[in-house]
Amino acid sequence: MSTQLTRGLFLPNSSNKSHFSRIIQTSIKVIFRMASEESRAQSWIDNWHKGKIGFHKTEVHHMLIKHFDNLFPDGKKGRVFVPLCGKTLDMKWFSEQNIKVVGLDAARVSMEQFFSENNIEYKIENVTSLGKSCELFKSCDDSIHIYCGNMMNFNMSITGQFEAVWDRASLVALQRVDVKRYVENIKSLLTPGGRCLLETMDYDVSIMNDIGGDTRPPPPFPMYEAEIKLLFEPECTVQYLDREERTLQNKDIHLLIFLITKL
Ligand SMILES: C[S@@+](CC[C@H](N)C(=O)[O-])C[C@H]1O[C@@H](n2cnc3c(N)ncnc32)[C@H](O)[C@@H]1O
Repeated sequence: MSTQLTRGLFLPNSSNKSHFSRIIQTSIKVIFRMASEESRAQSWIDNWHKGKIGFHKTEVHHMLIKHFDNLFPDGKKGRVFVPLCGKTLDMKWFSEQNIKVVGLDAARVSMEQFFSENNIEYKIENVTSLGKSCELFKSCDDSIHIYCGNMMNFNMSITGQFEAVWDRASLVALQRVDVKRYVENIKSLLTPGGRCLLETMDYDVSIMNDIGGDTRPPPPFPMYEAEIKLLFEPECTVQYLDREERTLQNKDIHLLIFLITKL
């Protein structure tokens, strides 16, 4: 194989030339995809630095408290993963229920604020498996771990699988181009029988024409039940649990809660 590749690279004939050009094209695509992934995550980090974090709630999410029993129906508590966690107080609440929490966010400042605002002592470790500048913030009692890195690089070799996932506002925060890979990651991070409580929003995209004057809505991007089923099935079941009316710029939107169960 290596001889063939070496011959292909240095003594190109027509079939090796096309093989070589496919390698180049694929490499360019991968580099381009990674660069744009990084820039999309960077725009969130910039918002954190500007204090543009209107999504942050100053109390524990009421839908988490209401539907928590669905995450551990037999009462046996495992670890919970909180992807794109920001500095949500839900992580502290989980640890108060004696559940080990693993969070992940691209913005380092979110974890600095989480630990300092909640007076939780912590230490920081480097995590080379998640990228060169990635770190793990660990509470000193070891109940809360938060990874600083890009979710697109995260996988189960870093943490193992989880019995539960609390996913609030991630699917509506990601650009559509990242959603499929993000969901593949979440599915692979769940143990068989593992459950994910998922909060999303849906709304009529035409209301955004009045807000941004653009056909492409800003985050929160809408995410419809049919799309969620397409993304998670058949490896998981998707069960609609709850719905609440909200307003965004005086227009109606719906907050939706789903229970995803890995088969
Ligand atoms: C809408 S907020 C939700 C925050 C949190 N779930 C909550 O309930 O407060 C989205 C979060 O995702 C983070 N984020 C966006 N893209 C990311 C990526 N590719 N990898 C890791 N974090 C990302 C942002 O920094 C931001 O904190």
